[in-house]
Amino acid sequence: MKEKIEKIGNSANEEIANASSMQALNEIKVKYLGKKSELSNVLKDMASLSKEERPVVGGIANKVRKEIEEKIQEKEVELSKKELAEKLEKERIDVTLPSTKMKRGSKHPVNRVIEEIEDLFVSMGYTVESGPELETDRFCFELLNLPQGHPARDMQDSFYITDEYLLRTQTSAVQARTMLANEEKTPIRMICPGKTYRREDDATHSHQFTQAEGLVIDKNISLADLKGTLEIFAKKIIGENSKLRFRPSYFPFTEPSYEVDVSCFKCGGKGCNICKQTGWIEVLGSGMVHPNVLRMCGYDPDKYSGFAFGLRLRKNCNV
Ligand code: DAH
Repeated sequence: MKEKIEKIGNSANEEIANASSMQALNEIKVKYLGKKSELSNVLKDMASLSKEERPVVGGIANKVRKEIEEKIQEKEVELSKKELAEKLEKERIDVTLPSTKMKRGSKHPVNRVIEEIEDLFVSMGYTVESGPELETDRFCFELLNLPQGHPARDMQDSFYITDEYLLRTQTSAVQARTMLANEEKTPIRMICPGKTYRREDDATHSHQFTQAEGLVIDKNISLADLKGTLEIFAKKIIGENSKLRFRPSYFPFTEPSYEVDVSCFKCGGKGCNICKQTGWIEVLGSGMVHPNVLRMCGYDPDKYSGFAFGLRLRKNCNV
């Protein structure tokens, strides 16, 4: 019986060693350790043994069974490693292969220009301010020297929500907000890009457009500072060879006031379809901050002066 058991052990070991797949190993497991295995059958015959022999044979049988179990376990680890390696090899991904193109969104051109302008002015020490699009009459008009009934209010048809609230017609409202918010009345250098709205009633104008306001308040600020600043803006944002043209204009919140044109980026000033054959493109309104505005916003016009400009990043006129 002893020999029988040992023989079973030996042939089990041999089969385990030769097993080449998990499936084969499972079959061996059933064959040698299952209920109907040879080993179980041999152990059933234990009853025929003498009292002295029984524990000896039982011990051998247990030892062989344990050995088979251990060998199977070892083989399991080995085979699963092998199978995993094979699977990885089979499913290897070539990361250098060109991928299917993913459609990605991109920044809106207006936002790209806003970011460029912000970077430029921040590099010159400006802060970037913001204000509400739903604005009050006070900030949008009154503090900018446009009292109720002022004829210049007609220049900007407005979306009034109530008697007091309207969708801001100009980012200039943020000039007043910034000056009033500065309690120490220290110098200001700020820009404010943002959305603006006007009640337009023909197909060639959009109700919503984009402006970027600029405001500088300090001692001894002059028109030369405004010109110099706008020239830097034109060179850096529009093109190194851009030229500016200042045309006298009127805005209630600046005196003197100017419309500023930039030489056409496409034809360089010769005249083309972009600049309507004029060689110039109107880009902004500007001027020296009106003393009334300074006063209403808490700055002494005898001590402080300033310039302001309103860039038209996306105009409401579509033609
Ligand atoms: N707010 C004016 C507009 O919407 C543009 C403008 C002109 C802004 C002169 C200014 C300025 O700050 O000084 O047409």
